[in-house]
Amino acid sequence: MKKILVLNGPNLNLLGRREPEIYGRTTLGEIEAALTALARELGVEVRFFQANGEAELLAALHEAMDWADGVLLNPAAYTHYSLALRDALAALTIPVVEVHLTNIFAREGFRARSVTASVARGFVAGFGPQSYLLGLRGLVALLG
Ligand code: DQA
Repeated sequence: MKKILVLNGPNLNLLGRREPEIYGRTTLGEIEAALTALARELGVEVRFFQANGEAELLAALHEAMDWADGVLLNPAAYTHYSLALRDALAALTIPVVEVHLTNIFAREGFRARSVTASVARGFVAGFGPQSYLLGLRGLVALLG
């Protein structure tokens, strides 16, 4: 069975009560539960990790090199400036799908750049929690 790391960056642990007018009221736990159900349907295994610090996210990606077949990633604010995260993704030989709840290109100017997207195989943004589910479907399709 293919194994997928679902990795979430800073402040996403606060989903549900963080700027709900922008990010909605669905919690990260609820998104993870929906992903678990979809993974079961698609016949893959998902493992979840969220961290607010760059170092922990990098460590999770380094570890994933030894076990994962793909990565579903919401880098959150690191999307816009973390070259360390970008380089960790570039080091992976497995596919990465980047997801965002919001359409980062339709918001503040500083969000309109993703330094990580160029090293991702796929990109889904703007569908709220559905971005994760669409991203998982795409990633599983890539994995064949
Ligand atoms: C986000 C968009 C980022 O700009 C922001 O910093 C986030 C969430 C999204 O999922 O829409 O934390 O990645």
